[in-house]
Amino acid sequence: MTASSSATVTAAPIHATDDVSAPVAFAIPDNVFAETVTEVRHYTDRLFRFRITRPTSFRFRSGEFVMIGLPNAEKPVYRAYSIASPSWDEEIEFFSIKVENGPLTEHLQKIKRGDTVLLRKKSTGTLVLDALLPGKRLYMLSTGTGVAPFASLIRDPETYEKFEEVILIQTCRDIAELKYITEMVEGIKDDPLIGEFAADSLRLYTTTTREPFTHMGRITDLMQSGKLFSDLGLPPLDPETDRGMICGSMHMIHDTKAILESFGLVEGANNKPATYVVERAFVG
Ligand code: A2P
Repeated sequence: MTASSSATVTAAPIHATDDVSAPVAFAIPDNVFAETVTEVRHYTDRLFRFRITRPTSFRFRSGEFVMIGLPNAEKPVYRAYSIASPSWDEEIEFFSIKVENGPLTEHLQKIKRGDTVLLRKKSTGTLVLDALLPGKRLYMLSTGTGVAPFASLIRDPETYEKFEEVILIQTCRDIAELKYITEMVEGIKDDPLIGEFAADSLRLYTTTTREPFTHMGRITDLMQSGKLFSDLGLPPLDPETDRGMICGSMHMIHDTKAILESFGLVEGANNKPATYVVERAFVG
């Protein structure tokens, strides 16, 4: 469903305050799509995912991000969100953190099926296959909600056409935070479209830092010590064959970039493909 310009939101508006007794309806700005929430799932008190309808004219490349907001004010607050669904999907999925007093997420975390989410019309980003030179093995390195763009890319057949091996890594504080990606990867093997590709090529390596688990420690420490590579039975990173994509907090990006560069990888961009690319995980 796409609202025409100057339409008003009438279906279950999101309230700027928590006073739901006061009905509010704001005009939908011209430059956005107004889409309907189809599903919300809370994983922990910090993380949730939601899905919205997709306008037929909204195109994006798997791995990109888009600005989203809520129709809860005259001038809505927008934040960048990585799209977690692949480019062929009929709906759009997001994986979000809940930030107390976050200008958007304090309201977004309360959305329900049937509510309206605003979507800016253009997506962008560097965590795209086009920004990497051809290679054999793709490492996707993430912490927390930084896994979202990779949830998109691991469900895109093109990822497996371009790379023989895809290694998705997520570090979180505890086991419950790993559930979103763990369940997805388990389910992918049965997917009629990508199951066959993923079954042979995709590997998930998850770690926790604050709760005992099979693999523990920050991804950065595990790369530096070499434990990641010995656990996976793979050689250390080689710029001839290996490619990297990084998505996490500013600190995580800073530290992970330095490690990839110590192995000889070079940062790329859409207009200058190279051997690794970076996007920060957005919070707000
Ligand atoms: P830690 O528990 O040691 O802080 P958050 O939920 O705060 O965004 O963190 C997500 C995960 O990212 C946590 O497991 C956290 O570990 C880890 N982390 C935080 N900073 C870095 C960093 N600079 N490099 C790698 N991992 C990090």
